[in-house]
Amino acid sequence: MARRIAIFDTTLRDGEQVPGCGLTKHQKLKIAKELEALGVDVIESGFPISSPGDFESVRLLSKEIKNSSICALSRAVKNDIETAARALEGAARPRIHTGLGTSDQHVFTKLNFTREQVLEKAHECVTHARSFVDEVEFYAEDAGRTSNEFLAQVIEVAVAAGAKVVNIPDTTGFCLPEEYGAKIKYLVDNVKGIENATISAHCHNDLGLATANSIAAIKNGAGQIECTINGIGERAGNTSLEEVVMVMKKHPELALDTGINTQLLFPISQMVAETMCMPVQANKAVVGSNAFSHSSGIHQDGVIKNRDNYEIIDPYEVGVNKSSIILTARSGRAALNFRLIELGVHLGKEELEETYQQFCELADRINVVEDKDLKHLVKDHQVVVK
Ligand code: KIV
Ligand code: ZN
Repeated sequence: MARRIAIFDTTLRDGEQVPGCGLTKHQKLKIAKELEALGVDVIESGFPISSPGDFESVRLLSKEIKNSSICALSRAVKNDIETAARALEGAARPRIHTGLGTSDQHVFTKLNFTREQVLEKAHECVTHARSFVDEVEFYAEDAGRTSNEFLAQVIEVAVAAGAKVVNIPDTTGFCLPEEYGAKIKYLVDNVKGIENATISAHCHNDLGLATANSIAAIKNGAGQIECTINGIGERAGNTSLEEVVMVMKKHPELALDTGINTQLLFPISQMVAETMCMPVQANKAVVGSNAFSHSSGIHQDGVIKNRDNYEIIDPYEVGVNKSSIILTARSGRAALNFRLIELGVHLGKEELEETYQQFCELADRINVVEDKDLKHLVKDHQVVVK
C-alpha cells in the first residue's frame, strides 16, 4: 500500500516573504481557499508577530479554513508563540511552527548561543507551544549545515517535549540529495522517540536541488514535504509543490501518495502568479507555458503519432486543456498538416508541399505562425476553411 505523504504549503509564509509578493488578508484567504480545495494538509499562513496585518491574516484563515491545518510561524520566543496561539484561535486544526537555528553558523554567529542553550531553547519553545495547541512543529533552522550528531540531539529534545512534527530545513539550499537523504536516515536511526513524530523536509532551491532533496528525504523516511506553489520563496525559492506531487504520482514504484487533486495544479499556479505578481517562467516543470508545447519537427511528428513519445504527463492530469503544437521554422510537414486539418483545411500532397514552402519562408520571418497566418496562406486553395 502507498505511504501517504503530507503536503505542507508555505506559499503564504515563506513564499510571501519575497519582495513584491506581499498579500492582503483577503488575497491570502482567496489563495488559502484554493489550497484547501487542492487538498493540501497544512497551510502555513503567516508569522503573526511580524506585523498586525499578518496577525489578522492568520486569524481570518483560522476562522475560514476547515479542511487543512492552519499553521503559524514563530521564533523560539515566548511572546512569538503566544501571539501565534492567539492568531490561531478558532482554527479547526491549529499548528504552531517554532524553532531556532542549529548549525554552528547560526548558533555562534547569529544567535550567539552555546549548544547547551540551543537544547534548552528547543525544549522550552516546544513545551510552551504545546501548552496552547496539540500540533506543534519544531524547526531546526539551517539543519542542512548542522552536524548530524548535534541535529539528532536537538530533535530528540524537541520530540521528548512533545513536537509532533520535526522540520529539517535546508535553509540555504546547500545539501546534495544523497547528503540530505542520509541526514534524514541518520535521524530515523538515531533519535530516541522519532517514531512518535513526523519528519518534514523543507528545502530551498539555491542550487536547483530542492525537488531532488525533498524526494530524497521522503525515500529515507520523511513523511511531510514543505513546498510552495510555483516554487516561490526566499532567494531562489522553495521546493515547488507541483513538482514533488507529480514526481510521486509519476513514479508508482515509490509507493507514495498525497491528497492533492492534480487537476487543480495549473489553475492555482496561474492564480498565485497573478495575485503575487510573480510570473511563471515558460519552461517551469509541470505548470510553465511551454511544459506541454512542442515546437521542433521531430518532436511534433512524434507527439502527433503518439503523445507518450514526448510527454510523460497528460496535460489534463494537471488541468491544462491540451498540449500545443507551436508552428515555427523548426516544424515539419506533419505538424503543419495536423494543424491545417484541425482548422478544417484538407490539402492534397502537392498543395501541402507548396504551402509548406511558403510556411517555411513565413516562419523564418515571423518566428511563430498563428492560425490566422495559416488561414491567410491557404486562402487561394480550393479547400474548406472553417
Ligand atoms: O528555511 C527555513 O529554515 C525556514 C524556517 C523558518 C522553517 O523557512
Ligand atoms: Zn524556508
